[in-house]
Amino acid sequence: MKTYCIEDLKPFFIGRGTERMCFRSPSDPRCIVKISPKKHAKQTLREIDYFRFLQKQNVPFHHIPEFKGEVRVKGYVGFEQAAVLDGNDSVSKPLLFYLNMCGNPGRREKDILKKLLTELYQYMYKYNITPCDLNLNNILLNVSKDSYKLVLVDGVGSPFLIPIGQYVKPIGRKRLERKWRQFAKRDILPIFAGSN
Ligand SMILES: Nc1ncnc2c1ncn2[C@@H]1O[C@H](COP(=O)(O)OP(=O)(O)O)[C@@H](O)[C@H]1O
Ligand SMILES: [Mg+2]
Repeated sequence: MKTYCIEDLKPFFIGRGTERMCFRSPSDPRCIVKISPKKHAKQTLREIDYFRFLQKQNVPFHHIPEFKGEVRVKGYVGFEQAAVLDGNDSVSKPLLFYLNMCGNPGRREKDILKKLLTELYQYMYKYNITPCDLNLNNILLNVSKDSYKLVLVDGVGSPFLIPIGQYVKPIGRKRLERKWRQFAKRDILPIFAGSN
């Protein structure tokens, strides 16, 4: 298990949410280190368990970042995962960033977005990926030379004590369908309802 000192991570900071901080790994720029204070580590602990479970099931890490193992940081719980990198090696940006930057997307952009969202959904459905926080900040648009894909970097794993849906696919898929419908209604439909 890799050990980091919080002071060494600080210059590599890339983002933070309510309970978590993310850094580009000082030892490997192709990895991201995510840490939470030990007292507020529920989400991070859940994700570690969930990534281990996916690894055991041989789920391909196509639309979620590959898990690279836990890290040791004094006072924190954390893990490393593959960094989602664009063709120029900079970290990919969330969908929300592009939507805010571009304003109302045109017909072509909407068609591309629809195709990418369908690919993400089909991947999650096929491998029974459990989402707990689908939103436009947790989905990155990965841009390489002439292809795009969406990667869900946060908010996976079941919040339940006994995650039945993880083991019983029809239950997991029902939950995915419900969560995706809520996400689409709240975040996606308003984009497609725009005038272009
Ligand atoms: N694997 C990754 N590759 C590239 N950027 C990432 C990765 N994971 C997280 N990020 C960036 O860091 C931000 C915060 O990470 P996230 O895991 O969503 O943490 P939080 O739980 O604090 O929301 C993301 O919105 C994204 O911009
Ligand atoms: Mg997040």
